[in-house]
Amino acid sequence: MRIVRRPVQFLGRIVPSYGLIVREDFPARDVGAHLDQPASRTTLTTTLGDHQSWSTEMPRTSPDVSRRTFLAMLGAASALGPRFAGAAPGPILKKAIPSTGEQVPVIGMGSWITFNVGWDQDLRVQRLQVLQTFFDRGGGVIDSSPMYGSSEAVIGYCLARLDETQALFSATKVWTPLQMLGAGQMADSRALWGVERFDLMQIHNMLNWEGHLETLLEDKGDDRIRYIGITTSHGRRHDAFEKAMAEQPLDVVQFTYNILDRQAERRLLPLAAERGLAVLANRPFRRKQLFRLFERHPLPGWAGEFDCANWAQFFLKFVVSHPAVTCAIPATSRVDHMQENMGALYGRLPDAALRERMIRYVESL
Ligand SMILES: NC(=O)c1ccc[n+]([C@@H]2O[C@H](COP(=O)([O-])OP(=O)(O)OC[C@H]3O[C@@H](n4cnc5c(N)ncnc54)[C@H](OP(=O)(O)O)[C@@H]3O)[C@@H](O)[C@H]2O)c1
Repeated sequence: MRIVRRPVQFLGRIVPSYGLIVREDFPARDVGAHLDQPASRTTLTTTLGDHQSWSTEMPRTSPDVSRRTFLAMLGAASALGPRFAGAAPGPILKKAIPSTGEQVPVIGMGSWITFNVGWDQDLRVQRLQVLQTFFDRGGGVIDSSPMYGSSEAVIGYCLARLDETQALFSATKVWTPLQMLGAGQMADSRALWGVERFDLMQIHNMLNWEGHLETLLEDKGDDRIRYIGITTSHGRRHDAFEKAMAEQPLDVVQFTYNILDRQAERRLLPLAAERGLAVLANRPFRRKQLFRLFERHPLPGWAGEFDCANWAQFFLKFVVSHPAVTCAIPATSRVDHMQENMGALYGRLPDAALRERMIRYVESL
């Protein structure tokens, strides 16, 4: 993926929609808990139809930091932490996107909340380290959305400052009730990321999916995007989602799948396999809840049978070992967590018997 190094000059055009963050079904106190510096932001909340509430954030500091200054800040920051701790250990696990056979790494990165850091330079430098770790460890798929506040801008800001982004598989979403606004929103996303085209464009939460699908099919025909997808959150609109999966010319579907939320095993995952659709699994940690529930317990000794060194890898290897899952997209704001997560990109995966054992183990805790 070629990155166009020009993220800031577009901002004038997108400022009116910049800084939105939507809580899909997230309580306000949890959003606050995820913001690194809530006191630095001005937040307004309102209601937006099917999509609950959203808030705007005002930029706090100037975005105008030169590449040299930025790299100096990054160097200083790296001295403080385990940023590039060693080379990636061995071949990475990949799976194919069925519609083309293109292989992608099975661990990607989400960006909801975690990359929504606005203009704060310290936080941007820190997220740059997170993204650097992601690429260093063999990552490729990055998922975002115009719904995620400043996340797309921060991703673009980081991509423009990383030297090695060839592996990038860029995935974002169109999220507007009006089809006529879709093209402009996608152009804004390209500008924010600094990419000429997206690898994957998804219709976020099925919002006006019939309308946007028309646009996306045209875009794919004209080579403006490579793959088309639809997304949903845990348990939302699964019937409509299933119908679209069965009937529409999609490449990728995205929905929730983790060791506790396994409803997708009943219909969505088998249907994806039958229809030859790639699956991006969102919320692989059930946001943070799986850690809160289980990390105080010991990992079972047999986790070594599938090269699993910590709970993050246990949860992720469970998700990506399902035969119909192509890639899990965990989100993190931390380098050490990214290092843990990317460890799931290596070594063996559990087979069907071990997967059953994993389920029984967490259910016993
Ligand atoms: N409808 C849709 O299209 C839709 C819906 C939901 C999600 N998504 C996509 O899927 C992505 C993933 O879902 P999600 O962000 O909701 O939830 P998630 O990835 O299940 O969980 C993210 C949380 O896990 C924590 N975490 C990550 N790695 C960790 C580790 N190694 N140890 C401990 N904690 C760790 C993160 O906190 P730290 O920052 O402290 O690491 C963060 O709070 C989203 O970011 C988004 O891109 C799409």
